[in-house]
Amino acid sequence: MDFKILIIGQGGREHALAWKLSKSKKVSEIFVAPGNGGTFFENKVTNVNIKVNDVNELINFVKKNLIDITIVGPEVPLVDGIVNMFNKENLKIFGPSKEHAQLEGSKVFSKKFMVENEIPTANSKSFSLKKDAIDYLKQHKFPVVIKADGLAAGKGVIIADSYSESERAVNKLLNENESKKIIIEDFLKGIELSAIYICNYNGRGYEVGLPWIKDYKSRDEYNAGPNTGGMGAVSHPFTYDRKNILFKINIQIEKILEKTIHSINQKCKSEYVGFLYIGLMISKECEVNVLEYNCRLGDPETQNIMLTLDLGNIDLLDVILANNQEYGIIPPPPIEPSKLVSESQYTCTVVLASKGYPSEYKKNFFLDLSGLEDSKFIKIFHAGTIIHNGKIKVTGGRILSVNTIAQDKETAIELAYQNIKKIKAYEDENMSKENMDLIFYREDIGN
Ligand code: AMP
Ligand code: GLY
Repeated sequence: MDFKILIIGQGGREHALAWKLSKSKKVSEIFVAPGNGGTFFENKVTNVNIKVNDVNELINFVKKNLIDITIVGPEVPLVDGIVNMFNKENLKIFGPSKEHAQLEGSKVFSKKFMVENEIPTANSKSFSLKKDAIDYLKQHKFPVVIKADGLAAGKGVIIADSYSESERAVNKLLNENESKKIIIEDFLKGIELSAIYICNYNGRGYEVGLPWIKDYKSRDEYNAGPNTGGMGAVSHPFTYDRKNILFKINIQIEKILEKTIHSINQKCKSEYVGFLYIGLMISKECEVNVLEYNCRLGDPETQNIMLTLDLGNIDLLDVILANNQEYGIIPPPPIEPSKLVSESQYTCTVVLASKGYPSEYKKNFFLDLSGLEDSKFIKIFHAGTIIHNGKIKVTGGRILSVNTIAQDKETAIELAYQNIKKIKAYEDENMSKENMDLIFYREDIGN
């Protein structure tokens, strides 16, 4: 096969996916629209200057360049219905339809969906009037979680520790949020786990589980500061836990997955195709609750997963294509997360961000990565960068991630931090004015 792929997106997630797919012998060319400074240098990969929401231009590009399959990275085009538009043109695309993508597009929809289908989740109530929300909060215990209904790039969730904080959160989200609805939900204690599946259909539905991941969502160390898209990720500690704990959790997650796919397919009268990310909270007693659904791969989870992902003799492209010939008509079984990560492998992802992120941040400065080790145990995935006169110029809040793989946790974490410290930031293109205050990263990834 000489496959031509278009990946839509410009983050670290899309760089990691392009890098992994470029290793497939079946893939001849990968285009990334619009891509970033990292995909610019990747083997077999070409950046295309088309924005992720310019669907007509993307369709023209696919037709003109005889692209075999388009893979959608970010949520916005999915929620806006890019898959429906490609399907109308009979173009092959991997991602859920607009209807399925409501699981991520509306927190009110997904909460109602979970309750109707008895999928475990925190108790919640939705509000469109400030006064009703405030009255409700007066009776509520703290902390409490307040979520904007629509898409907010991980920034529409506020955990309030007191009544006054929660009041501020309601004022902020109901003013800024275009959808004009919020959810107020009980705070759940525990350890978070991201379970991501590749969902497809070829006569019979199947879901292939990717390794479990622990994501670090808040900006600052020890879960302080505002929520972000994600500041780091590591192989999930439960993957290495005692087998009985692992199985207890796995059974509950599989049940959640099965109910989710079955019910959303019934509701939408069509099959869920694409990545499905289930954000979970695992309590001390190993009870699993759903925090959120995403209809795409996670960022920076993907950067971490792609470094270790080994589907045995199955090519990632075949799973995405629902091309089952190689292993018969029978779909591949859901792969247990414990089987995907060998006990002697641990991966660590630390995100380098621009000062100010997730609020207004610095941009248009330059990075020097020349001090970093060049080894198969380290991979840099870019996000908010472009290449300008051969230099790495910063254009986004999450700039890049340092990803490491090692035989044990301590080594992977140490390697990531040793290397991220070697990155230098400069105000000018000539790299004469060093200014390390332009960048930051969390110091506690892996804890
Ligand atoms: P969400 O976008 O709904 O996943 O929320 C973003 C982040 O907020 C999650 O990854 C959690 O860290 C936190 N969060 C959301 N809902 C809850 C909850 N009910 N209890 C505790 N933390 C939560
Ligand atoms: N890292 C969280 C997300 O991708 O939603």
